[in-house]
Amino acid sequence: MVKQEENGKERRSFLLGHGSTRLGFILAVTGSAVGLGNIWKFPYIAGQNGGGAFVLVYLACVALIALPVLMSEILIGRRGRRSPVATMALLGEEEGSSRRWQWVAIVAVFAGILILSYYSVVAGWTLAYVPKALSGIFRDASAQDAVLIFKALTDDWQSVAVAHTVFMAATIALIARGYERFVEKAVSFVVPALLLLLILLAVRGMSSSGFAEGISYLFKPDFSMLTWRSVLHALGQAFFSLSLGIGAVMAYGAYLSNQTSITKTASAVVVADTAIAVLAAIVIFPAVFTNGLNPADGPGLVFVALPLAFHEMAGGVFFATSFFVLLSFAALTSALGLLEPGVAWVVEHSGRTRSQAAMLVGGVIWATGFATIFSFNELAGFRLFGGTLFENIDYLTSNILLPLGGFFITVFAAWVMCRNSTADELGGAGNIYRLWRFFSRWVVPVGILVICAGASGVIA
Ligand code: TRP
Repeated sequence: MVKQEENGKERRSFLLGHGSTRLGFILAVTGSAVGLGNIWKFPYIAGQNGGGAFVLVYLACVALIALPVLMSEILIGRRGRRSPVATMALLGEEEGSSRRWQWVAIVAVFAGILILSYYSVVAGWTLAYVPKALSGIFRDASAQDAVLIFKALTDDWQSVAVAHTVFMAATIALIARGYERFVEKAVSFVVPALLLLLILLAVRGMSSSGFAEGISYLFKPDFSMLTWRSVLHALGQAFFSLSLGIGAVMAYGAYLSNQTSITKTASAVVVADTAIAVLAAIVIFPAVFTNGLNPADGPGLVFVALPLAFHEMAGGVFFATSFFVLLSFAALTSALGLLEPGVAWVVEHSGRTRSQAAMLVGGVIWATGFATIFSFNELAGFRLFGGTLFENIDYLTSNILLPLGGFFITVFAAWVMCRNSTADELGGAGNIYRLWRFFSRWVVPVGILVICAGASGVIA
């Protein structure tokens, strides 16, 4: 009895937006999902992994693995109605297992910190591109110039540090002050606007000389290019793009009203996120081939190819500038979902205020960001496991921690939680429920294990 009262109290005090609406939730999760992962990361990872076959595997990972994980995160979050760490501890106990499940969420907090440390640096590049686009330097830039402009920026660590600091400061300020209304407003403008700009660019790209080559690179699968490593990259990218594996969506799920259909909501988010990623690639690759760039060029790909796609367009300077402004905002709404779990955890465990917790966790992330900043200049020659510090942090988080987090979250939802609880959250034990349960019990865990084993060389 006492325990229940305590629970009740905790539930209320943690709920910021009491039973938020379906639209509010979709906007928050879409805001978290749509960001640099779609527009910056997906095209360059696809390019590094050979295009077509990778894209197919990516789509399969999204539909068969990421979608069930997304549903699990939402249902766990809504059932627990707390921060991810407290939710996993509470449900672990309630479902007759152990509070130790909270460790899944604690490790996830650190994964979020690591991801945001480089995410914020790339968001800083995006911010720095706003004045560049505005100045018109891309208007007559050759492909060579575009490459040099990007290199000059990443070489100049002081400028990147300033931009990274501005971006982190904005993220911390929003987290400290509460951001519900900001996110709803920002996302409902930014996502449709980005979508429109991408469609505009895609249509223009159709008449470019590299269009056919770009599209066939992207959609014509060449399975000889596919390795287990690429499959793991596809899986990691699916988790990254949908903000899965660190309880970010679980944190939002805590605010979702009980009347909302998790299946429909999750599907809507998956469709929107995937459409934007694929559209971004449809814009980038024709520009890559038109300008004789190398699709496997890595993290600079979008920053070089995109400005060139605005070439000779009426109002090109205006559109290019708007694009980088919108992308900065999209990155900001994603960054909130990365910082939130850590801040919620510190607030619950140390009695600090939200502002103090945001400064503390945000400060650690800001400092960690310098590892990424220096990976492109002072420490570019420094190699660990054959990669720069940035590549190591990215690999560790996207390809190891996120799939692992997703694995345990799904196992928890499908094997530990009892049928009644999960069926209750997913709207009864109908066909959709059975499908979710089958996928979550078998396809997701086995799929993740097989892909990880394959990539680490266990399977020949
Ligand atoms: N999904 C975001 C993007 O595509 C990045 C992101 C936000 C994220 N929150 C996350 C990635 C949580 C992993 C986990 O840009």
